[in-house]
Amino acid sequence: MSVSKEVKRVTVHVLQAMKSKGEKITMLTGYDYSMARILDEAGVEVILVGDSASNVMAGHETTLPITLDQMIYHASSVVRAVKRALIVVDLPFGSYQGSSRVALESAIRIMKESGAHAVKMEGGEEIAESVKRILSAGIPVMGHLGLTPQSIYKFGTYQVRAKEEEEAEKLKHDAKLLEELGCFAIVLEKIPAGLTKEVSESLTIPTIGIGGGQHADGQVLVTHDMLGITKDFQPRFLRRYLELFDQIQGAVEQYIKDVKAKDFPNEHEQY
Ligand code: KIV
Repeated sequence: MSVSKEVKRVTVHVLQAMKSKGEKITMLTGYDYSMARILDEAGVEVILVGDSASNVMAGHETTLPITLDQMIYHASSVVRAVKRALIVVDLPFGSYQGSSRVALESAIRIMKESGAHAVKMEGGEEIAESVKRILSAGIPVMGHLGLTPQSIYKFGTYQVRAKEEEEAEKLKHDAKLLEELGCFAIVLEKIPAGLTKEVSESLTIPTIGIGGGQHADGQVLVTHDMLGITKDFQPRFLRRYLELFDQIQGAVEQYIKDVKAKDFPNEHEQY
């Protein structure tokens, strides 16, 4: 599908209507202008400027080092490319955990300086005050529960979360709370499929799963993972639609050969 000239923007209300109709929501990560254009023209409903940019764009081991300024840079690049999709931006680690005032200031900077449409925050009850304050400023908030990568040093591993009763109960409580506070959607990352089903059925707002099975109201993947650019990352939940690392490497090797063999440029490729 490609986007027609009469572009109707995806809003948080469109996502809500999709859940009501049982239509699945698609979300992919985007960090730069060129890729965001492709995602938007392909018809994805939501582009997440994820703090996974810290991993896939900057090469850090975790999402923790990326800064608010860097997130705003990525988000502005995506905003310039996109005509239809809803653009959601991760509040990076350290930009909202301190106090609700800091959280609001960070969210306002993202909205003002990038032109994006919503923010995403990791956590439940612990961040309720911040979520409330950001929402009261008119900024839509997407929640994120389950495996929340900004807490990786607390978890210790990237294993499936909420397999035990106590953690599953907390997740259900947090999901209800985020809905009551006014979040427009919740990402559920790497939790058992049965728990995703239970949470999704208990909420009126959409859930977006990653490694959470087929019962979420939508799905999200890191674009670089599903395109096979991040070659070594192969979790069970990931479907790779291309093997771009190998394809790009092959193209670059061919270019090197052509230049060395004096085959490129030929007489039609010069002035
Ligand atoms: O930063 C990110 O890419 C995310 C997705 C994995 C949901 O938060």
